[in-house]
Amino acid sequence: MHRYQRLFPSPGEVTAADALATLRARERAPDGRPLVLADMVTSLDGRAAVQGRSRPLGTGADTEMLVELRTLADAVLVGPSTIGAEGYGDLAAREERRARRSAAGLAERPLTVLITRSGRIPWEAGLFAAAEQPIVIYSGTELAPPDVAAPVTVHRLDAPTPTAMLAHLRAEHGVRVLLCEGGPSLLHALLREGLVDELFVTLTPVVVGDDLQPRIVSGGPLDLELELRWVLRAGGELFLRYG
Ligand SMILES: NC(=O)c1ccc[n+]([C@@H]2O[C@H](COP(=O)([O-])OP(=O)(O)OC[C@H]3O[C@@H](n4cnc5c(N)ncnc54)[C@H](OP(=O)(O)O)[C@@H]3O)[C@@H](O)[C@H]2O)c1
Repeated sequence: MHRYQRLFPSPGEVTAADALATLRARERAPDGRPLVLADMVTSLDGRAAVQGRSRPLGTGADTEMLVELRTLADAVLVGPSTIGAEGYGDLAAREERRARRSAAGLAERPLTVLITRSGRIPWEAGLFAAAEQPIVIYSGTELAPPDVAAPVTVHRLDAPTPTAMLAHLRAEHGVRVLLCEGGPSLLHALLREGLVDELFVTLTPVVVGDDLQPRIVSGGPLDLELELRWVLRAGGELFLRYG
């Protein structure tokens, strides 16, 4: 378990679980949609991937923060392109995580949620081979899932916007806390619709230097100013939380 030095607002040492418990995420779920947390990692030069994948960017402390955020969430939202690019599978493969979720009154595994306007889903991705991992897809087109191991539910929405999806997740799936793990296009859509309550950004001391790699938000101008809520440090990484 990593120890994180809190630099702001007050100095101290915390674990990821203890720091995140102070969010009181479940209690803060607004009416009509889940509380939305988002977590991204960025290089020093503002890149969100190395050769199309984010995994080379974060260290163990970053992974631990992400896993602890997942442990709070009823659902994890991921963009279809990210599902295709990264090695997604069972979101609570470890027994200890499932036990902690159960003890907290949550389902053993968070729902994985995808949203697509076009219906293009990377069915060959490892996520769909995880037989225990429930998946919900919001689609703007008729979608017939192929024969995959994971249990997949498709909801057709005439206007598959993040706002409509979140309202449905709260009303029909009882989702109170949702974690968005990107990618940059999906995060842009959530920010544009004013749906991100807490943004966690890991600044990792890596310089990518590749203009072709995405940034953590992508999709056109947004005029947003966020509030800094904490700064944690583990090794050379800074963990920033904004609201
Ligand atoms: N650094 C990090 O923390 C991090 C995290 C995640 C991903 N990444 C990296 O980001 C890259 C992938 O990101 P990405 O931006 O290409 O894809 P993405 O955000 O993962 O997925 C984009 C897809 O989301 C769907 N979508 C549904 N509703 C949308 C809406 N309202 N607006 C925009 N998209 C919507 C679109 O599918 P339809 O066209 O079918 O609607 C779109 O193609 C990969 O390189 C990955 O490694 C980095």
